[in-house]
Amino acid sequence: MAAPSLPPKKLELPPKPVQELIKTERKQVPERYIQQHLKNPVDQPEINYMDSSIIDFSLLSNSSPRQREELQKLRNNLSSWGCFQLINHGCSSSLLHRLREVHKEFFALPLEMKKKYSRTLDWIEGYGSDTVTEDQSYNWNDRLQLKVYPVEQKNFKFWPEEDVQNFRETLNEYAKNMRRVLEIILKAIAKSLSLEETTFYRECEGEQGIYMLARFNYYPPCSSPDLVFGLKPHSDVSAITILLQDNEVEGLQVQKDDQWFKVPIIPDALFINIGDQLEIMSNGILKSAMHKVVIDKDRERMSMAVACSPHPEKEIGPLGELIDQERPQSYKNVKNYVRVYLQYSPTAERAINAMKIK
Ligand code: OGA
Ligand code: NI
Repeated sequence: MAAPSLPPKKLELPPKPVQELIKTERKQVPERYIQQHLKNPVDQPEINYMDSSIIDFSLLSNSSPRQREELQKLRNNLSSWGCFQLINHGCSSSLLHRLREVHKEFFALPLEMKKKYSRTLDWIEGYGSDTVTEDQSYNWNDRLQLKVYPVEQKNFKFWPEEDVQNFRETLNEYAKNMRRVLEIILKAIAKSLSLEETTFYRECEGEQGIYMLARFNYYPPCSSPDLVFGLKPHSDVSAITILLQDNEVEGLQVQKDDQWFKVPIIPDALFINIGDQLEIMSNGILKSAMHKVVIDKDRERMSMAVACSPHPEKEIGPLGELIDQERPQSYKNVKNYVRVYLQYSPTAERAINAMKIK
């Protein structure tokens, strides 16, 4: 099916990174970053932490005597939250530490050096921000985005190896680990739904291989954190996203039954959420988690997300195994969902709604 299209809107990038902006405009948040509906906030109820939703990776393997129990837990987490925290995933603390160090070093570089790796309006990779349309506000976020799979599609011109020692080696090692974790998780999710274990993995892998994009997020502090979003409420375009949170500063929140919950920091855990493409493939059994990032008044926050998707040219749709009379196909098949998502993402409307068969 051809992707449904919205009338094209002119996209733009913020003129300055937020990191630079706060050097000159310490007190006043520029209008363009102010989220209009946060301007007059109604009394916000206290935001609670999400219930503990920890999955132990080491119990998911076929040889574990507690696999069944853990798969059940995984299924419950996914149907209630669409996300979970993964522990014992086999990435060493030393690797996570090194990744955080290169992340920090990159954002500590002078602007002129970071600019060598700048993204452009028409390409997602590189240093910059998300594009928005002219009537949209900006996120309080700078980032460096790099393709890490398929390996032959890496664009090293965006990799700051020249200026950040061991960047390439560290990200490559981390990406390899994410590839390993992803495969096991996709298999576990299929098993938890009583499907053949390679069901989702095969769909994501396709002929061209899984597509993985690493996104190094940097959220500077903000003098009026209640007026801005680090990232506006969104669901991810991916099939699955694997996030390494900041180990000191909170900020991530997820939505459940129209309420927001804080995601606690669990040292060295990976936060994993379902994205739109797995919701589509699962015919709606798995729900793509809505989440957002709020900003700290005094401290910067860093997080590293790896978005994992089928190749953009691969057509996806609800899997035959998950369609029957009781659950008819409720999403259209779609090719290049990323393009659809990008058309919708600056608007309040969610792209996945355009995929639903009403
Ligand atoms: C993202 C995202 C959350 C975070 O990059 O899509 O939701 O905590 N990140 O930075
Ligand atoms: Ni996200």
